[in-house]
Amino acid sequence: MSGLTSSSLGKKITMSLSGFFLITFLLVHLGINLTLFVGAETFNVASHFMATNPLIQVMQYVLAFGFIFHIVMGIKLELKNRASRPVKYAKNNAAANSNWASRNMIVTGILVLLFLVLHIKDFFIEIKFGEVNDDYLLVTDLFKNPIYVLIYVSAFILLGIHLSHGFQSAFTSVGARAPKYLNGVKNVGIAFSYLIAIGFSVIAIFFYFA
Ligand code: HEM
Repeated sequence: MSGLTSSSLGKKITMSLSGFFLITFLLVHLGINLTLFVGAETFNVASHFMATNPLIQVMQYVLAFGFIFHIVMGIKLELKNRASRPVKYAKNNAAANSNWASRNMIVTGILVLLFLVLHIKDFFIEIKFGEVNDDYLLVTDLFKNPIYVLIYVSAFILLGIHLSHGFQSAFTSVGARAPKYLNGVKNVGIAFSYLIAIGFSVIAIFFYFA
């Protein structure tokens, strides 16, 4: 394992595997959140299932580990890339060679992390350790606050930008580099980023006006 996480390629592969895991989590989380549109009863059942199902209880530790791992490896990879490039190339025309999302993964990643701290405090900790008996009310009440909606929607857009590079990068790091796949992977990645950014944002905005 140490060989896998200490080499540059190993770091990229483990980043990619934890990234795949987080992509799956986001899809499940969005699916559960969309039941907010069905009604309070359905969402509370789904949320309760998440909070009590034994398999999901175990998976929560895997999820926490996946997040921490992804963040630590991301920071290490960024530091390593910087160290191997101490002097900026005199004629480095970065904008022409790569896009903004790929050059700023660490920035968008850290901002999404800040959102996560707030999010875990307001939802996860409240539901687990607070006196909440209606998860639906907790969520819909929070989205009555415009500052909250603004912070959340900004975080979802940043997450979308992070994923617009991260999704395709996860695939290319594990070898899906052949030209015949590359375009398809890029397009699915872009579609996925929009789905996540818009899907989560629609929920926050809808319940602000509801
Ligand atoms: C409209 C947007 C969102 C809503 C309404 C929402 C709602 C919730 C709720 C109610 C919980 C507590 C679940 C429980 O323990 O019963 C939760 C947990 C969590 N959320 Fe979100 N969430 C949103 C977006 C996100 C996003 C974009 C991420 C990731 C970047 C995220 C990451 C997490 C994590 C890591 C947990 C703790 C693990 C878990 O309970 O499954 N959430 N969220």
